[in-house]
Amino acid sequence: MGKHFDLTDRVIIITGGGKGIGRVYAEEMASLGAKVVTADIDGESAEAVAAAIRQSGGQALGVRVDIADADSCDAMAAATLDAFGTITGLVNNAALMSTLPRRSWFEIPVEEWDKVMDVNLRGLFQCCRAVYPTMRDANYGKIVNISSSRIWDGSPNRLHYTTSKAGVFGFTRALASEVGSDNITVNAVTPGFTLSDTQIQNSDPQYLATRKFDDQLIKRAQVPDDLVGAVMFFMSGSSDFISGQTLNIDGGRTMH
Ligand SMILES: NC(=O)c1ccc[n+]([C@@H]2O[C@H](COP(=O)([O-])OP(=O)(O)OC[C@H]3O[C@@H](n4cnc5c(N)ncnc54)[C@H](O)[C@@H]3O)[C@@H](O)[C@H]2O)c1
Repeated sequence: MGKHFDLTDRVIIITGGGKGIGRVYAEEMASLGAKVVTADIDGESAEAVAAAIRQSGGQALGVRVDIADADSCDAMAAATLDAFGTITGLVNNAALMSTLPRRSWFEIPVEEWDKVMDVNLRGLFQCCRAVYPTMRDANYGKIVNISSSRIWDGSPNRLHYTTSKAGVFGFTRALASEVGSDNITVNAVTPGFTLSDTQIQNSDPQYLATRKFDDQLIKRAQVPDDLVGAVMFFMSGSSDFISGQTLNIDGGRTMH
């Protein structure tokens, strides 16, 4: 394999790696030689994904984490160091998304608003804080934050979620500025509506069956595989001179 996209022996934590798109990131990066840590609030799913990767010859560790809890994030980083000795990359993919009801902004309970911010924003901050000392000491690190294309088009019905993902955009730029001198890159991606297994379970089947793609340049549904290449790029040495950027991946629906 050419050196540019080689992930061999890179130790990469994927939060939310037990299900949905996170599972696909973990499987694909492990197949390219990364040592992956699937970290999820659903510890059984995290372990099941890691076990399947090990069974097919890859290296993986499953960890239960609640990213809204700072101690739990620190324990995730410690377990990674115990198992693999370093932390090269962090994919901040865990979020409250598919399980959130779709409803008008005026019907969102304040408690639900707070919970979304706790997980989607404070959780992101706490995960970065947990891995930073290791990356700083190594004078190298790769962080990718998963935002959403909703921040460009202002889609309705999950105002707290969209707001949190817009926060991820600013967080990415500002953190990138602070850790650039440690040789750590911080980038983000904004996926469009993606048919992850969890998204399918939580969407109206009628809506899924009758969707049109007239507003996209590439006229088909977006699937998890469409995101993998970009995330792997941001985890690889090929992106070592790219930081603070946000890459939109939505079949060309929005140009950014
Ligand atoms: N599927 C889409 O259409 C879409 C579009 C844009 C962005 N995204 C983003 O991509 C990412 C993955 O999306 P998905 O479709 O797989 O959705 P998902 O809802 O299945 O992903 C969330 C994952 O995070 C885990 N999680 C939730 N709360 C957690 C916590 N407190 N601590 C640790 N783990 C926790 C869940 O168990 C799950 O595995 C999310 O950040 C989502 O916002 C998804």
